[in-house]
Amino acid sequence: MATDNVVWHKHEVNKATRAEQLNQSPRVLWLTGLSGSGKSTLANLLEKKLHEQGKHTYLLDGDNVRHGLCGDLGFSDTDRVENIRRISEVAKLFVDSGCIAITAFISPFKADRDYCRNLLEEGEFIEVFVDTPLEVCEQRDPKGLYKKARSGEIKDFTGIDSAYEAPEQPEIHLIYQEEPAEQTAERLFELMKEKGLV
Ligand code: ADX
Repeated sequence: MATDNVVWHKHEVNKATRAEQLNQSPRVLWLTGLSGSGKSTLANLLEKKLHEQGKHTYLLDGDNVRHGLCGDLGFSDTDRVENIRRISEVAKLFVDSGCIAITAFISPFKADRDYCRNLLEEGEFIEVFVDTPLEVCEQRDPKGLYKKARSGEIKDFTGIDSAYEAPEQPEIHLIYQEEPAEQTAERLFELMKEKGLV
């Protein structure tokens, strides 16, 4: 392995001391769902609510991260696996920094979401399934990508010619269809409060 001769260095300021200073429980709120399901919109509103409450947050968003850290990756299965592996490692660093990380990636494969879950401690990974039916996402088509996928201009599009494995037991199953985004975000926030997650 590449790390065979590299030894982990334990530092004195650590996750626990940072979390104590920030007065919060660091976690990853992992939003998964189809393109156009509303992940980014909800993640944005959720972060705003947490921020207003004085929480220290950071939002990692698929579309943005693919302009930088993951700018070399496409949408083949292999590239998506690598995309989520990188994000998982980054999310873990944010948790180590004491932060509440919110991620908004399609993250279509169960094994990759579980990879992130397994990197973290019990209770730190909160899987939020943004469950918007394909028909609704396709109707919304905010970036015109479904249209391009249907016409064959884009290949390997999730839900069209690339798989999406829906979470079987997410911590939060959020059905997001017709109501306004603000209302759904409020629902998500309340669900998190009920479960003692925020
Ligand atoms: S993931 O599958 O690797 O998790 P990610 O969330 O980073 O995907 O990026 C998805 C975004 O890229 C979509 O919201 C969409 O805007 C854009 N996109 C471009 N091509 C594709 C494609 N073939 N499949 C899915 N999304 C695509």
